[in-house]
Amino acid sequence: MPTVRDVRGNAGDEPITMLTAYDAPTASVVDDAGVDVILVGDSVGNAKLGYDTTLPVTVDEIASATAAVSRATEDAVVVADMPFLSFGVEEGESIEHCGRMLKEADADAVKLESGPHTVELTERLTDLGIPVMAHLGLTPQHVNQLGGYFRQGTDQSAAERMLDLAREHEDAGAFSLVLEHVPANVASDVTDALDIPTIGIGAGPDTDGQVLVVDDAIGLSERSPPFAEQFGDVRAEMENAVEGYVDAVESGEFPAEEHSHVEEDVDSLY
Ligand code: KIV
Ligand code: NA
Repeated sequence: MPTVRDVRGNAGDEPITMLTAYDAPTASVVDDAGVDVILVGDSVGNAKLGYDTTLPVTVDEIASATAAVSRATEDAVVVADMPFLSFGVEEGESIEHCGRMLKEADADAVKLESGPHTVELTERLTDLGIPVMAHLGLTPQHVNQLGGYFRQGTDQSAAERMLDLAREHEDAGAFSLVLEHVPANVASDVTDALDIPTIGIGAGPDTDGQVLVVDDAIGLSERSPPFAEQFGDVRAEMENAVEGYVDAVESGEFPAEEHSHVEEDVDSLY
C-alpha cells in the first residue's frame, strides 16, 4: 500500500496497519514486515528521549527522526507527527514546519492533533500539497488541559462533538483519521460516518486500521498504556545481550582471538 491515495481509498477494505518508528533500523524492520504506514510519532518524546510527556519534542527532532525513517523505508507511507505548538499558532509558521517534513525529511504526509483550530489549516495544507492525517479523541498534547490521559468521547455531547470534528476534517481534506482512546462504539460510529479511513489506538476493533507505538508492540517500553498489546519481549532480549557482554568482558572471554589481529610486521615496542 504505497501511497497516501491508497490509504485514503482503503476504508472498509483490508485493515490498515500502522506502527511508529523513530530510527532507520526499526523502520526497516517495520517496512519489511509489510506495515502500511510508519508514523514518526511525537511519542518519540516518551519512547526515546526520556521525557514524561510529548510536549518538549521539537520540529528539528521530528525532522531528524523522519529523515532517518524515510531513508530506511521502501514501501510504507511515512507520516511525520507535528509537535506541540509547531502548528495552529500562526498559519505561515505552521505551513513552514509541515513543509519541512516533506522538503527536508522526505515524509509523505503530516499528522496533526486535531481540534477546531486545525480545520482551516488542514484545508490549507491539503491545498498546498501536504497531505494531512487528522487525530481526535485523546490528543496527548492537551494533557495539561485534560488533567491526564483519559478516555475521550465518553458522554453523548462529547461523542457528538468528536463526530462533527471528524466530518469537518474529512471535508477539509484529511486523508485519514487517528482515533485515540475512545469507546469502541463511538469509534465504530465515527468510522461508519466517514469515507476516509479511521486508524484506532485504544478505540476497539471497528476502525479501518490499528496503530501502536512500536516500543509497546515489541516489548521495549518500560510502561505501556492498558490498550497496548505486547507482541514480543525485546527489552528482555536487550538485557540478556548487555549482561552477556558485561560478563564476557569481566571474565576475559571477549574479545577472543577471532576478534583480534596481531600485526607480524610490528616488532615489540619495548
Ligand atoms: O505519537 C504517536 O505515537 C501517536 C500515535 C499513538 C497515534 O500519535
Ligand atoms: Na503523537
